[in-house]
Amino acid sequence: MLESAGLDVLVVNAKRLKNYQRVNSRPAAPTKIFFTSTRAVPTLAASMSSNVFKLAALAGDGIGPEVMREAIKVLRAVSPKYSIEFQITEAPVGWAGIDASGKALPDATLELCRKSDSILFGSVGLPDRDPTIPKEERPERAALLRLRKEFGLFANLRPVRLPKELSHSCPLRADRQGDGLDVLVVRELTGGMYFGQPKKTETISPGVQRAIDTMVYTTPEIERIAHVAFKAAQLRRKKLTSIDKANVLENGVLWREVVTTIGKQYPDVTLEHMFVDNAAMQLMLKPTQFDVMLCENMFGDILSDEAAALAGSLGMLPSASLGVTAGTQTFGFYEPAGGTAPDIAGKNLANPIAQILSTALMLRYSFGQNAAADAIDAAVGKVIAAGLRTGDIFNAADPSAKRVGTREMGDAIAAAI
Ligand code: IPM
Ligand code: MG
Repeated sequence: MLESAGLDVLVVNAKRLKNYQRVNSRPAAPTKIFFTSTRAVPTLAASMSSNVFKLAALAGDGIGPEVMREAIKVLRAVSPKYSIEFQITEAPVGWAGIDASGKALPDATLELCRKSDSILFGSVGLPDRDPTIPKEERPERAALLRLRKEFGLFANLRPVRLPKELSHSCPLRADRQGDGLDVLVVRELTGGMYFGQPKKTETISPGVQRAIDTMVYTTPEIERIAHVAFKAAQLRRKKLTSIDKANVLENGVLWREVVTTIGKQYPDVTLEHMFVDNAAMQLMLKPTQFDVMLCENMFGDILSDEAAALAGSLGMLPSASLGVTAGTQTFGFYEPAGGTAPDIAGKNLANPIAQILSTALMLRYSFGQNAAADAIDAAVGKVIAAGLRTGDIFNAADPSAKRVGTREMGDAIAAAI
């Protein structure tokens, strides 16, 4: 199934990880990322010989456990049909980790992740409880960001699709939706303002504080994510929009230069550059102009939420964070892009589709199981077409829409495999 060879990318410089206890034993550079012919995704199909995969399932907080349950249900349905064995081990993370063993990322959970082929992640953080502990210990920083850095998950892929049947959930007028929306946000995930040093709040005079975040990118960091984005574009509609703020930021100037240089290796891909503020506006005005959007870490965080809103609901948006690949392993971290949604947690209201689609991304990107991944995507398409809707995508005006809960949605998708 492989159409193109892999590409070599550099591994993040370990010295820059000094704030994190980097004990990841996975071998370092060079890295290879493969892409399948059917979707713009990296996979290791060519080299994966076994059909047994070890998963760390970290459900986390809020709606995490209930959507994770449905995703595992779907994997269990896939398993016999495609002769794939999933060895799934669940472990606490986030507040569940703090409650279980005092840390958002318990040592045992991290150890499990190291021994696994990929991580299936739910969501972490509880706004009511987060302020009760120091910010460095809160789930977002101590678990999510730490895992990203720990496993070198520099490439975050967020495919945003608006199926025709859900056009009512898109906040844009129908004439702006074209034939449906299909945008891939490629977000750099281990650099920029999220991790740059110094990062601190200091008192500069009595009663006056100063907060400092540092935006920093090196040429190799930009190069490797640019390669991922160009490769992805080659397998889609061959258009790449690189987002920056080159009119103001040094980082933006370097970003634009490096992406332009890398673009020369991909003459079949049309490259355009766009300032981030304009990109935010263009997503509202004419989202159909975008194929692949390449963003640095924070711009990607913001624009991927905006793009997700166009797809109707964050509950529909899966994501893959791909790391350093060594040998036959593309280590990946798969999570829904939505948060913990504590207001609806435990009520059988959450949409499990983002979590379920994340398992499809995992099968495709990390395990090279394209047929099984296709089956999950198709099963989701089928239940959507059949009118099943959780509350976030329900349209009372649609006579064929059937409102269902988290469990029923998972059951239906598993049955459609
Ligand atoms: C995301 C989230 C995270 C981020 C938060 C929870 C730290 O918003 O994955 O987009 O900012 O990266
Ligand atoms: Mg975000």
